Amino acid sequence: MTENTLSGADIPVDTQTTLEMLEDAPSEVYARLRKGSPIVRLQALGGRIVFTKAEDTTRVKTDAEHFWSTDSTSPMQRAFGGHTLMRKDGCPHLKERRAMEPALDPDHIQRWKPAFARLTDRLLDDLAAHKSVDLLPAFAAPISAGYLRTVLGLDGAGEERLFDWATSLVRGAMNGSFDSEIFKISDQANVEMNACFDRMIEQHWAAPDGSVLSAMINATDPLEISQIRTNMKICIGGAVIETRDALLSTIYGLLCNPDQLRHCKASGNWDLACQEGLRWVAPIQASPRMVKKALVMRGLLIPEGETVMAIQASANHDEDLWDASDRFDIHRSPLSHQTFGEGAHKCLGVYVYRLLAAEIVLPRLFERFPALCLADRAAVKFKGFAFRGPTSMEVYLG
Ligand code: HEM
Repeated sequence: MTENTLSGADIPVDTQTTLEMLEDAPSEVYARLRKGSPIVRLQALGGRIVFTKAEDTTRVKTDAEHFWSTDSTSPMQRAFGGHTLMRKDGCPHLKERRAMEPALDPDHIQRWKPAFARLTDRLLDDLAAHKSVDLLPAFAAPISAGYLRTVLGLDGAGEERLFDWATSLVRGAMNGSFDSEIFKISDQANVEMNACFDRMIEQHWAAPDGSVLSAMINATDPLEISQIRTNMKICIGGAVIETRDALLSTIYGLLCNPDQLRHCKASGNWDLACQEGLRWVAPIQASPRMVKKALVMRGLLIPEGETVMAIQASANHDEDLWDASDRFDIHRSPLSHQTFGEGAHKCLGVYVYRLLAAEIVLPRLFERFPALCLADRAAVKFKGFAFRGPTSMEVYLG
């Protein structure tokens, strides 16, 4: 059916929400939208259509007849020096995804447990010299860069630059006005990243190590070098900051709820905390899609050709699924979330993040520092609309 023959009302426009509200207190905004206008155009986002209910965000991610990821208008392609698999559909997407999958398979990643444990213990040793620290720069950030060095197949020089590269890629990908000064920053990061990948490719050809880069260059169905590069960049731009933020949000949730922390210690089931932390504050709050074919949802006409946003951060708090969703609660049911996306583009890093957080970082941190506590709970601020996490987290180590 074409748009002309579909009958649906115009999508309402929200003029009340500001960008500051989305940055500072998105859960209040999304609770209001879920209740009053779950599908809405946000004036603060230039009139972009957003979906806030779990059922709808799932549909946006999984209904391939009406929604797709191909988007030639996005600044992401320019910022990454080409299309990543995240903005492709069908066979081209599948081919690139299949080339990365073996490196991130749940059985394969077990080999990295000892390396993750050594990395964590080394950083915990460093913390032991202090009475109090900010866990963001002193622990969560270096854990994230260190494990991704192993998983992605980079060297020490690459590890040191990961946060700068990720930040530059994200700025470029969000450069909706195509400001050339911002692209200069992402261009510089691209030059450095490509040099690093080329250096490592030589090594992985000679000695494959099971990393993401190694898997891609040795794929049975070979990829173009340009695709290998852009997909390495999606793993950098979409994993470095997110891992840091997810770890910190979860640690904060546990420190604010000592009974739940005690439960994890006693049961050894840290995956409960890992999953609830991911639901509670989604590090990537929203994912864009294009409307491939017009459709009607909730009586509203969703026009073909528009870029829409599925707000997984809102879906994770949907009243239809959870009570008191703003509370961190490892015992809630269902203990599920949309933080890693759904459908064809579901995150490939799910298992490796959970292995790192639930089997290594959380148990080791709380075992090493049993009296760990927040220096000032009220001082911990969460920030961000597209990406979200605590901006710092000062703790006493005991
Ligand atoms: C807590 C950490 C992470 C979060 C919150 C996260 C979140 C996401 C989300 C929401 C998507 C889907 C985007 C969409 O539907 O448009 C995605 C895709 C992806 N993620 Fe992650 N991610 C994380 C860690 C990782 C890690 C560690 C890796 C790899 C080492 C990774 C690799 C990827 C790749 C390759 C895709 C694209 C998949 C595709 O398009 O088929 N992510 N991630």
